[in-house]
Amino acid sequence: MQADIIRCSRLPGFHKMTIDEKINIVKSWANLSDDEVKLLKTFGNLDPKIAEAMVENVIGAMSYPLGIATNFRVNGKDYLVPMVLEEPSVIAAASNAAKMLREANDGNGIRAEASKQLMIGQIHLMKVPSPHSAAMEIINRKEELLDLANSTSQTLVKLGGGAKDIEVRIIETKRGVCLAVHLIIDVIDAMGANIVNTMTEAVAPYLERIAGGEARLRILSNYAIYRLAKAWVRVDPEHVGGREVAEKIADASAIAEADVFRAVTHNKGIMNGIIAVALATAQDHRAIEAGAHAYAARSGIYKPLSTWDIDAHGYLTGVLEVPLQVGTVGGAIKTHPIAQIALKILGVKTARELAEIMAAVGLAQNFAALKALVTTGIQLGHMKLHAKNIAIAAGARGELIDIIAEEMIKEGRISFSKAVELLKKYLKQ
Ligand code: MEV
Repeated sequence: MQADIIRCSRLPGFHKMTIDEKINIVKSWANLSDDEVKLLKTFGNLDPKIAEAMVENVIGAMSYPLGIATNFRVNGKDYLVPMVLEEPSVIAAASNAAKMLREANDGNGIRAEASKQLMIGQIHLMKVPSPHSAAMEIINRKEELLDLANSTSQTLVKLGGGAKDIEVRIIETKRGVCLAVHLIIDVIDAMGANIVNTMTEAVAPYLERIAGGEARLRILSNYAIYRLAKAWVRVDPEHVGGREVAEKIADASAIAEADVFRAVTHNKGIMNGIIAVALATAQDHRAIEAGAHAYAARSGIYKPLSTWDIDAHGYLTGVLEVPLQVGTVGGAIKTHPIAQIALKILGVKTARELAEIMAAVGLAQNFAALKALVTTGIQLGHMKLHAKNIAIAAGARGELIDIIAEEMIKEGRISFSKAVELLKKYLKQ
């Protein structure tokens, strides 16, 4: 029996080591093989120097598949949509849905519209002696505060962006009253976190003086309620599988509106599309997720982000509305070479257009999921890919992959042993 070795994760100076040195430490910690180390050192399309400029303590890079969803037409314009994710069927489903929805809205495809790119920066002040008069005073000094915020980002102001407005909320916390001051900032084509955080930090001392309190938090809110994207379709049921399918999709939507357990899964399907585009373009996908789910619960009850109905003329209509904090400039979007390629494939320059496409992809993804669920079920598509993967694992190559996968599905036996058995049979022929 091997004696337990007491290992210590306390590694002083680890962050200063070279990548090779770090890998050596992790190698002995986890007993990694030489092949595993070799794989770790394969950074693929991400230069190790860039990786190290992005995050800390880097020992490798992890590749996820980058696929292209085809058939998208949004606001009358065609797009190829790069998507990064680990889940089978999602890209195929999006492409399939986009094909059906091309004819929506009189041939314009999916319609989408994003609002201005307004983010909220928050300064939370505690120990304010007279919160109501402080709130009034802050509003009175709005112009001074906006000027101060804008002095931190001349470039943004020159482009027409910058801090535009101020809101003040008085909130009760269990540790006393808090004055929440919101800076409303037009970040144009940036995701905006840096700009917003710089501005909140710049105005906080001034706010402390006006209010006579102490700033505790000075940071953006990821609840980006002023940065919304909307996508919608109105489509003849004949283009989406017929009247019966359309009715069932509307039923599925109604169920999601009435059942929070279903609403979460419904929204997960939407996020399959949105987050895959976010990953391909190196967005802060955690921010998007956090904002989207909070928005889904804005009424106090968690609801679906999209709804589907049949209108008075018998057309299927679908609408999605979601806050999208995405950028086309700055941060990892700029430094990750694949994100740059993804943006080039999309052909978008503005955050607004990117948000519109992402909302459209979310709606298409949702449509695909609901359609599959109310007709064949979701497993058929999954099974096809699963069977293919098993065939490959068993050693099938080329056309044998599809032949073996289909045979396993037909026989209802999708297993490694069955794939090996079939492979032997076909190789003998
Ligand atoms: C799976 O990743 C996503 C779905 O569960 C979404 C849905 O149920 O609407 C299929």
